[in-house]
Amino acid sequence: MHSLPPTLDASTLPTALAPMQDVTTLPFMRLMLHYGAPDYFFTEYFRAHPQSTPERQILSALDGIGPQHPIFAQIIGEDISSVTRTMRALEPYPIAGIDLNMGCPAPKIYKKNVGGGLLRDPAKVDQLLGAMRETTDGRFTVKMRIGFADTSLFFELLDVIRSHAVELVSIHGRTVKQMYRGEVDYEMIAEAKKRLTCPVFANGNITSAEKALQVQKASGVDGIMIGRSAIRNPWIFTQIRALARGEPLFRPTLGDVRNYIDALWETFKNPDVPDHLQTNFIKKFLNFVGQGVDPEGQFLKKMRRASSRSELFEICDYWLIENGRCDQPFATEPYEGVIARPNREGDEQSKNAAQSCSL
Ligand SMILES: Cc1cc2nc3c(=O)[nH]c(=O)nc-3n(C[C@H](O)[C@H](O)[C@H](O)COP(=O)(O)O)c2cc1C
Repeated sequence: MHSLPPTLDASTLPTALAPMQDVTTLPFMRLMLHYGAPDYFFTEYFRAHPQSTPERQILSALDGIGPQHPIFAQIIGEDISSVTRTMRALEPYPIAGIDLNMGCPAPKIYKKNVGGGLLRDPAKVDQLLGAMRETTDGRFTVKMRIGFADTSLFFELLDVIRSHAVELVSIHGRTVKQMYRGEVDYEMIAEAKKRLTCPVFANGNITSAEKALQVQKASGVDGIMIGRSAIRNPWIFTQIRALARGEPLFRPTLGDVRNYIDALWETFKNPDVPDHLQTNFIKKFLNFVGQGVDPEGQFLKKMRRASSRSELFEICDYWLIENGRCDQPFATEPYEGVIARPNREGDEQSKNAAQSCSL
């Protein structure tokens, strides 16, 4: 178990990189360290079911980012003996704690009553959290949404969580049925902060350092968790720290972003994988990066059609370097109406791309 207690230092704003299946792999987390680490990392989820053993690829992340970076191992499951067995298997690793996924909105997941499916059943959550609490003396955290189809059970769920001395709750302020669309309800997160005694991290559409501070101020949360905007803008954690301290912010140019794309390619390149599959894999990340490149979304449109590395990089050079674009600012917020096609947890397409890429 990681020896560091969560250092919730009010003079800075603590941050976490949100768990993202097929994204927050060891290579990606290492890349994030290069651009400015969040205070906490979370792994992709380990599946816990009667036949499961902890996924080797995810295990590699647990001791791969270095002891100074607290990492929580996330588990998804509902079968109590499988979840507690998985916890015991993970505990020898240098982890900051175990996190339970109570938010995954993919139908094939929630239909099995795991992930976001658990939010329909506070009695089941009570049993599961009770068993998890008994299994570990270490840190134990929950990542959840504000409800399944609506928020009617939210407060009941929070009371259950509180009764099991959970040590950190990260809340994505949408229901499961909202998936990744619609407004994020930061007021519900503020209510949760009042009701819980443990630290609360706000999550969902926190797109910039400015927004992170706004959300913290309005909701009183102890920290901010960021997913997709960290893919778009890997400097975001450094920017949040600077803004919280009143220091000047590093504002990347399109040229800096072009270098980030090179770094993404270098991070994931694999000589054994065909060029077009590697290109498709990188496009998953550029989907988000493209939201800050041009207001019409032309870069995104063109980049999605690229079928080889050389084609892709030609497009990147045109939109990010040529004709003086290199020194232009990368947008602080995603351009309005420029949408990243979903790459989501439980998304079969992205899973297949990752698997066929063996990354
Ligand atoms: C590609 C992708 C994969 C995700 N995988 C997970 C996951 O394994 N576990 C989890 O708790 N949440 C997962 N999420 C949800 C994120 O952790 C986060 O709650 C959500 O994206 C909202 O935050 P954001 O607006 O900052 O991205 C995933 C999201 C995306 C986009």
